Amino acid sequence: MRVGVLTGGGDCPGLNAVIRAVVRKGIEAHGWDVVGFRHGWRGPMEGISRPIGLDDVEDILTRGGTILGSSRTNPYKVDGGVEKIKAVLADQGVDALIAIGGEDTLGVAKKLTDDGVGVVGVPKTIDNDLGATDYTFGFDTAVHIATESIDRLRTTAESHHRALVVEVMGRHAGWIALHSGLAGGANVILVPERPFSVDKVVEWVTRRFEREYAPIIVVAEGALPEGGDEVLLTGEKDAFGHVRLGGIGTWLADEIANRTGKESRAVVLGHTQRGGTPTAYDRVLATRFGLHAVDAVADGDFGVMVALRGTDIVRVKLAEATAELKTVPVERYAEAEVFFG
Ligand code: F6P
Repeated sequence: MRVGVLTGGGDCPGLNAVIRAVVRKGIEAHGWDVVGFRHGWRGPMEGISRPIGLDDVEDILTRGGTILGSSRTNPYKVDGGVEKIKAVLADQGVDALIAIGGEDTLGVAKKLTDDGVGVVGVPKTIDNDLGATDYTFGFDTAVHIATESIDRLRTTAESHHRALVVEVMGRHAGWIALHSGLAGGANVILVPERPFSVDKVVEWVTRRFEREYAPIIVVAEGALPEGGDEVLLTGEKDAFGHVRLGGIGTWLADEIANRTGKESRAVVLGHTQRGGTPTAYDRVLATRFGLHAVDAVADGDFGVMVALRGTDIVRVKLAEATAELKTVPVERYAEAEVFFG
């Protein structure tokens, strides 16, 4: 059997751990040939691939990024894209695909399965916002990086008695903000799920200053002030179709400085949260996802995604996997609010 593997969407620490597990188990337990497709769905569409052997995955467990490269190419948005994929797979004798990706990549995987291609999905996103799995790998690493940054920013903020606004990733869900904010002892945490009152933020910040501490505000990149959609979410797209966000961290730091008369700084953590080596937790989760994806292919169980439920890895239908965005529930946010101000 010949099995293809690809990584799509934004990269994420742990992708290489999945690839390694797929290759090790695929070759050693099943005697498969494993083929790596480059640049997400562009690889199988344009026939960009190479065989991956045991030596190729020897040193990649700890490495961030993806040895296969990634892209946001969607074959359903390319003329004849699906037909091209089918032709390449037939030409290269590839029987099945393991697609590692987020909502978009898994959405394509679902459609391809409906169109007769055997695909098994592996969920990935640092945002942890896929409804069908308790956790995605990459999230733990991102939270660690953000928490370490908050710890470091606190000491410099205290030295200068400034407010520090830390902007973390999370366009639609505030999981990174919530977890890193709680772990880093933030004085305010702002998430996309809940438009915030700037007056309230200023009140919390002022209270903190009055107690002679430097306030730390953690804000998810997709968070917005009440009624602030027009000011900050322009909807403008870059040359690659990526919607630009408004820079909420910098905006909020300026608001705080103007309204409190205190110095305020913004730090945008950006892609540092996605780079570098995965944490032990993410290495283990990614490895287990890879092993179970191989099992699904071996069983001929296509159109499914591996998922974490409690401590078990289960299979869920790809349709279910992409149906629901997992956002921060009110009760979880309320836990954090106890520490505001
Ligand atoms: O979905 C993961 C994510 O890291 C988001 O949190 C972030 O908004 C987006 O990707 C950034 O994408 P890009 O790498 O294309 O800038």
